[in-house]
Amino acid sequence: MLAVGLASCASFKHLTQVSNTFPAAKDCGKCHIDIHQEWAASDHAHAYSNPHFLTATDNHVFGECLNCHAPEPMLTAHTPAVRSAGREEGVTCVACHLDQGRLSGPLEPTGRVRPHPVGVRPEVYRDAGICGRCHQGTFKQWTDAGAGRQTCQQCHMPEVTRKMTQSTGGFANFIVAMEHPAPQGRHTFAIPTSDSTDGMIDLEVRRVDAGAQIMLRSRLPHELPTGDYGFRVLVLEATAVNGQGEEHVLTREELAPEAKTAISPEGTWQRTVTIPADSVSLRIRLRRHSYEQQDVLDLLDRMVPL
Ligand code: HEC
Ligand code: HEC
Ligand code: HEC
Ligand code: HEC
Ligand code: HEC
Repeated sequence: MLAVGLASCASFKHLTQVSNTFPAAKDCGKCHIDIHQEWAASDHAHAYSNPHFLTATDNHVFGECLNCHAPEPMLTAHTPAVRSAGREEGVTCVACHLDQGRLSGPLEPTGRVRPHPVGVRPEVYRDAGICGRCHQGTFKQWTDAGAGRQTCQQCHMPEVTRKMTQSTGGFANFIVAMEHPAPQGRHTFAIPTSDSTDGMIDLEVRRVDAGAQIMLRSRLPHELPTGDYGFRVLVLEATAVNGQGEEHVLTREELAPEAKTAISPEGTWQRTVTIPADSVSLRIRLRRHSYEQQDVLDLLDRMVPL
């Protein structure tokens, strides 16, 4: 009864109405506090306003570029179309969640209060296809990688057990008290870094004569690195470390989609290096560089004793 009463309450209509205004993420963030914080720190929140996109589109003049960076709700039309209001919020909540007047997600709600109509569609939200509407090249690589692969969400929206909403006091306390924690996806949309890439990128080092054979195998269901737009380069570096902790570079290579040097799914990268006699270990690092040199992510950083 309560659910019905709230759904018809006029004060929540703005959450599901698209006209000359667009439902704002900060309104969703009044109840979905944790999800809103994760999303706000992600690149999706800045997809329209980020300076590289501004430069690349001559300050949003290139209309054909805007569709995936400031989309209308996508579930209605299969290909994303650019929206007219609230573009600065980029890939915002409602772009992925508004579904014929309801806010849909993968879970059966656990509480008894529905401030807005809810749809339950795990077949849409747990499927890679929802990401593939914009990440088209990466999605094609994923499809081509064949059976048994993980979904985008499993690596880029890591699982956490919590309630869907958090409390700010007052009415919100009442809503949250009704809910139960359930496993769900964090909205970080981040690139996994060295503390979480175990099992995604395998490293093997074999001694041969005066050197070592280094082999990286990618377990990713897309290329390493992947991406159709923007700029990224992976730098693979092997150094020899001596007893004093000094490092000496043995090999340093760049991998980039444009140069056709990306490692394909289940593909390997292999080099044999000569090791100086005073070395005590090998250090293998894989780092992602983007536009700014300070914008560097460690994808792998391992010390292998010799
Ligand atoms: C089909 C959807 C789609 C369209 C259309 C699109 N983009 Fe993108 N854009 C993306 C995705 C997805 C990313 C994230 C990186 C990747 O996977 O390629 C991205 C990332 C970017 C970035 C990198 C931002 C950063 O800071 O890293 C730039 C720049 C960019 N796009 C420019 C453009 C330009 C210019 C056009 C028009 C020629 C365009 N985009 C059209 C989907 C799209
Ligand atoms: C790029 C698409 C996308 C955007 C943007 C997005 N979500 Fe989601 N959301 C998803 C997907 C996919 C799932 C399912 C994740 C899972 O559980 O596997 C999900 C799940 C949810 C859930 C159910 C709990 C869960 O994690 O399963 C809620 C609630 C939710 N999102 C709210 C929001 C809010 C609020 C925002 C904006 C602050 C937002 N979402 C932005 C794609 C998106
Ligand atoms: C007044 C608080 C409130 C606001 C504001 C709010 N929601 Fe919700 N939302 C809820 C509650 C409560 C549930 C049901 C949770 C439960 O019962 O487990 C819910 C459920 C959802 C679900 C269903 C997820 C699933 O997997 O079933 C999605 C998606 C969602 N909200 C997205 C949004 C978006 C997007 C916005 C902003 C446009 C928003 N919500 C604004 C309280 C709110
Ligand atoms: C409506 C289009 C759209 C959808 C749907 C979408 N993305 Fe994106 N995504 C983008 C754009 C555009 C960017 C580039 C944003 C930027 O860098 O400014 C991006 C960037 C990313 C990045 C790169 C972040 C980084 O740090 O460089 C990841 C990872 C990502 N998305 C994962 C996902 C996943 C997982 C899903 C599905 C749950 C998804 N995206 C759905 C448009 C989309
Ligand atoms: C097994 C875990 C895993 C799965 C599954 C996965 N990814 Fe990734 N993804 C990674 C890792 C690790 C990286 C960092 C290396 C790279 O850039 O290729 C990455 C990078 C990315 C990037 C950032 C590219 C860049 O450097 O700017 C995007 C965008 C992305 N993935 C989208 C997707 C999409 C879309 C899917 C589903 C079709 C997906 N990923 C499935 C692990 C995964």
